[in-house]
Amino acid sequence: MNGTKATPFALEEEKWRAPYFLAPVAGYSDIAFRAICTEFGAALCYTEMISAEALVRGHPRTKELLARDPIEVRYAVQLFGSDPKTLAKAAQIVSAYNPVVIDLNCGCPVPKIIKAGAGSALLRTPARIGEIVRAMRDATALPISVKLRTGWDQNSINYFETSSAAIEAGACAITLHGRTRAQGYSGSADWAAIKALAAQTSVPVFGSGDVFSAKDAIAMRRMTGCDGVMIARGAIGNPFIFTRLKTLAIQPEAGPSDSPLSPCLIAQTARHHLALAIQYLGEKNACIEFRKHFCAYTKGLPGGAALRAKAVRCTSFNEYEALLTELENSADSQP
Ligand SMILES: Cc1cc2nc3c(=O)[nH]c(=O)nc-3n(C[C@H](O)[C@H](O)[C@H](O)COP(=O)(O)O)c2cc1C
Repeated sequence: MNGTKATPFALEEEKWRAPYFLAPVAGYSDIAFRAICTEFGAALCYTEMISAEALVRGHPRTKELLARDPIEVRYAVQLFGSDPKTLAKAAQIVSAYNPVVIDLNCGCPVPKIIKAGAGSALLRTPARIGEIVRAMRDATALPISVKLRTGWDQNSINYFETSSAAIEAGACAITLHGRTRAQGYSGSADWAAIKALAAQTSVPVFGSGDVFSAKDAIAMRRMTGCDGVMIARGAIGNPFIFTRLKTLAIQPEAGPSDSPLSPCLIAQTARHHLALAIQYLGEKNACIEFRKHFCAYTKGLPGGAALRAKAVRCTSFNEYEALLTELENSADSQP
């Protein structure tokens, strides 16, 4: 934290000294990956966005998304929806799981979500964001935060308006992904917008967008003055980014290190990640889900393409184990 704003939710002091969070990432930030990122030093991990409506209807698979591994002592839950009453009820349900904060998704650009008036559709109606935050605040004692994009499109940049509506309704923090809904994930994130918001709001602002290395995360904090950084794509296949950032907070003189990692460390981490996924999802589902993580872990490694070609057919731990052993052996054969 930059010292002028109150901490928005309960985390240990040392975590605020290295406020680097695993962002909510649908399809990735599940229980197993959050456990891995926690182990590697993320100050806090967010769940994937969870449907408020499905939670309220008691959908069993949706409730499973709220489970956490014992290593994840603290976590944050992100909800999406459009109806204040439904989000209030969902916030009550989530409260039983005691996250440090409940985050409202106002950024998802997926057409199906927008059609239902949720995600980035909310950017077009700042007053509705306020209504939802107020309803959630009234329904739970837990802090509520909001994750925004800069606007719907280039002609309707309104992050000051949407964040003000959220803050007036009681949001404890704002995350700003520096892109519009129309941009999706293309172009580059507007860090100047994050800087402008961080300078003007009374609550902490977390930056999101284009942080792919420890160097980027440090640069974002320095250039924008944001109070924390959410890392999404840059953490996939790279939970090591959190260790590097945590180390840097303890030894700033070391400077950000983004040097290549040993294939052995990558293989060990991937193996541990897969084992956790199997524990929670069962072997077959976990192995199918893990293919995208395996591809991310091996991206850019010598011989990685050949391993990935085999991984897309893996359905058992043993099949992955053969590939991970191959990866470890490749390290022995490198000069
Ligand atoms: C595959 C994928 C899934 C995402 N899912 C969510 C989500 O569930 N909730 C959310 O607020 N943002 C979601 N995001 C957006 C990220 O949290 C983040 O704001 C964005 O990717 C920019 O950060 P990055 O450059 O670090 O990836 C998702 C992004 C990606 C690429």
